[in-house]
Amino acid sequence: MTQDEMKKKVAEAALEYVKSGSIVGVGTGSTANMFIDALATRKDDILGAVASSEATAERLRGHGIPVLDLNEALSKVDSLSVYVDGADEFDAGKNLTKGGGGALTREKIVAAASDSFVCIVDASKRVEYLGAFPLPVEVIPMARELVTDVLRRIGGNPVLREGFITDNGNIIIDVHDLKITDARALEDELNSVPGVVTNGVFSHQGADVVLMGTADGVQTIGN
Ligand code: A5P
Repeated sequence: MTQDEMKKKVAEAALEYVKSGSIVGVGTGSTANMFIDALATRKDDILGAVASSEATAERLRGHGIPVLDLNEALSKVDSLSVYVDGADEFDAGKNLTKGGGGALTREKIVAAASDSFVCIVDASKRVEYLGAFPLPVEVIPMARELVTDVLRRIGGNPVLREGFITDNGNIIIDVHDLKITDARALEDELNSVPGVVTNGVFSHQGADVVLMGTADGVQTIGN
């Protein structure tokens, strides 16, 4: 099975977690795009979707799936029933790194507003330690140098993502050469740096279920 076939299989498998009549949180990236395509088959069965990026909103609309602003959605329901998204890496504790596509802040917000997070990945995303994939940090532009210094002090090699501005108008600094042994502690430490909007460690908002595409089919990790 190719990587794309694995992504398609997990995207389709995630439909099982979509409840009729609910509002669904939708992630960003190539695997999330395949989920959107699958979700289109259920578009008359759900109230709508909350998008984690402008790109996702556009793809949802292209399929005729109603897109709700998160505030509007939370005025209709107490929480989103499920958030479905990919990841750049996941570990045995279902901690993730995300933000390769730069949508980490909205992804974390929508995940936090959802009852559960179903993470859809191919097998290449499983790691023993997070951090081999450069960790994205969304930063308010005026704090670039301040945050870069702190990232160096914690042992990383920060690199500005050239020519990239997030949907929120901020920059991304990708931190190379980290070996993350305590995801929760690093997530908290980075979030305490003034100027950091969000970092790509998803430990507080880790996955409840990981659907991993393998050559033998979809493996479910979690409940
Ligand atoms: C987007 O900002 C990311 O968090 C994506 O969820 C992550 O990069 C996974 O993307 P792919 O499904 O394209 O690998």
